[in-house]
Amino acid sequence: MCGIVGYIGDKQAAPILLDGLSKLEYRGYDSAGIAVFDGSRIIMEKVMGRLKVLDELTEGGKTMPGISGIGHTRWATHGSPSDTNAHPHFNKEHSIVVVHNGIIENYSKLKKKLERKGYEFVSETDTEVLVHLLTEYYDGNPVAAIEKVMRRVEGSYALGIMFKDHPHHIYAARKDSPLIVGQSSMGNLIASDVPAILKYTRSVYYMENEEIVCLSKENIRFYNIDGEALVKEPVTIDWDIDAAEKGGYEHFMLKEIYEQPKAVRDTISPRLKNGEVVIEELGMTDEEIRHTRKIIIIACGSAYHAGVTGKYILEGMARIPVEVDLASEFRYRNPIYEEGTLAIIISQSGETADSLAALREARNHGVRVLGIVNVVGSSIAREADNVMYTWAGPEISVATTKAYSAQLAALYLLAMKFAKVRETITQEEFAELQKDLEKIPEQIEQLLGMKEKIQRFANRYLAADHMFFIGRGIDYAISLEGSLKLKEISYIHSEAYAAGELKHGTISLVEEGTLVVALATQEKVYSKTISNIVEVKTRGAFVMAVTNEGHEEIEKTADYVIYIPKTNAYFANSLAIIPLQLFAYYVSLGRGLDVDKPRNLAKSVTVE
Ligand code: AGP
Ligand code: GLU
Repeated sequence: MCGIVGYIGDKQAAPILLDGLSKLEYRGYDSAGIAVFDGSRIIMEKVMGRLKVLDELTEGGKTMPGISGIGHTRWATHGSPSDTNAHPHFNKEHSIVVVHNGIIENYSKLKKKLERKGYEFVSETDTEVLVHLLTEYYDGNPVAAIEKVMRRVEGSYALGIMFKDHPHHIYAARKDSPLIVGQSSMGNLIASDVPAILKYTRSVYYMENEEIVCLSKENIRFYNIDGEALVKEPVTIDWDIDAAEKGGYEHFMLKEIYEQPKAVRDTISPRLKNGEVVIEELGMTDEEIRHTRKIIIIACGSAYHAGVTGKYILEGMARIPVEVDLASEFRYRNPIYEEGTLAIIISQSGETADSLAALREARNHGVRVLGIVNVVGSSIAREADNVMYTWAGPEISVATTKAYSAQLAALYLLAMKFAKVRETITQEEFAELQKDLEKIPEQIEQLLGMKEKIQRFANRYLAADHMFFIGRGIDYAISLEGSLKLKEISYIHSEAYAAGELKHGTISLVEEGTLVVALATQEKVYSKTISNIVEVKTRGAFVMAVTNEGHEEIEKTADYVIYIPKTNAYFANSLAIIPLQLFAYYVSLGRGLDVDKPRNLAKSVTVE
């Protein structure tokens, strides 16, 4: 998911590759590498760690002479960060070399087939299947070989490729992971993102899915997956560098809000196969799943809020008792451990001190621990018995959005898996759930279209002092996250409350004009939530309701209504959170605050 740069022209390639990769560092990565054609062979250097290490190793590229090359910064998804797993990846003969951004979903099947044909794998990555497949298909025509590989692989990829016997060309291909081509007076370039090449050119081509490009220092030739030549028009980039780093978005948070459809899709699709949920990394047999008597979900912040939703889903679908604990509480409350308990630690960074300590506390008492983590090879990922990665890619903004959405997606899959194995849902119910789950990414996309509407509403509340978020069941879990998003980036005080609990005290705080955001997506308690809306309305509240399409009658009660597309009640959180994320973003923006780096907060809280 991280960074690719390629160059072919009159200049030394290595310094250009290193410079380009440095412009992509902001996106987060764990290792880096470059390959250059030195006139007779392809040479390569790659290391785990910061780009600085590679720069020093190659003396700023001086030790790697040549006028064409490809480079990569890796955000690990398959195989922990290491020198061996870093890209580029060679075939055995060192005649083909590849860099890849994305996820090859069917890599394990392809790897087994290639190993049976005698190909030797040296890394743990999914990427390596690509270079061996290219070797298998290559008969002297690079574009033809690339086409064949694209037909075989499933998943997302942006590829940079070099063939030793085609030294005057570099190749690239794209599906779902971004890739652009830059045309400049000093040669031609490929890159994952505009910042990497803005120094050399503002004339770029955006590659579309299943397109291939062949670059020489003078020409750029595009092909479709059938090998037919394509004519594409260049686009002139008028962004400044700062805007370019955010892909043209004003803030990383907005960029990451918009990356949620892909984050959810990348997390679920490799694990939904032929009507089954396949979580190879779960490490539990069906027997062990059937014998699980209790689940404890432990996390902090938004990860904890995902866990609260997880409780409702796992208990509802799989009929397993679930406790949800704040990690900072769990580790000191001397918990009681029972036989057959599974602890689930949810953490985007995988480095949160309280969550890591809770993991160790649970493991020290013999409890099996599953991590749901976004950063591959992080401490929680390494210390858990098993880890189910979310594939949201690097998340830069302190306020989490796409990683949180990917955590929900992982929990849906887990609940469906457990429910299927424990036969607490029928095959028909499972099929229905799968159909609804697969629609979530496009429904999130649809909700992102209401950005302007939300911004207009948010601008009415820039001076608010207090807000309430209320809901029942999963709607309460959504309220927790909606409230935190607002608090952490707008500094407006807000509270999330179980809607039925308001009358036990807090409603005394509701006065004329107080904004109450009411979540009403859970049909079985919808009428109860309507009553709670009436309660606060009679005390003068202004109510923004978030509910399912079809409930137009709510407009008689609520002052402002956001409708979400119909989905299974278990999955409503993934949709209802979108307008709340946008609301928090635009309130913070309107208040002129630092959206991506709010005061007092860190992206990963590695201290108690
Ligand atoms: C969420 O927007 C906050 N940045 C914070 O609550 C975060 O969710 C919490 O610190 C947990 O982080 P983790 O997922 O990396 O463990
Ligand atoms: N999935 C590949 C890996 O884990 C590429 C990751 C990336 O996009 O950086 O190596």
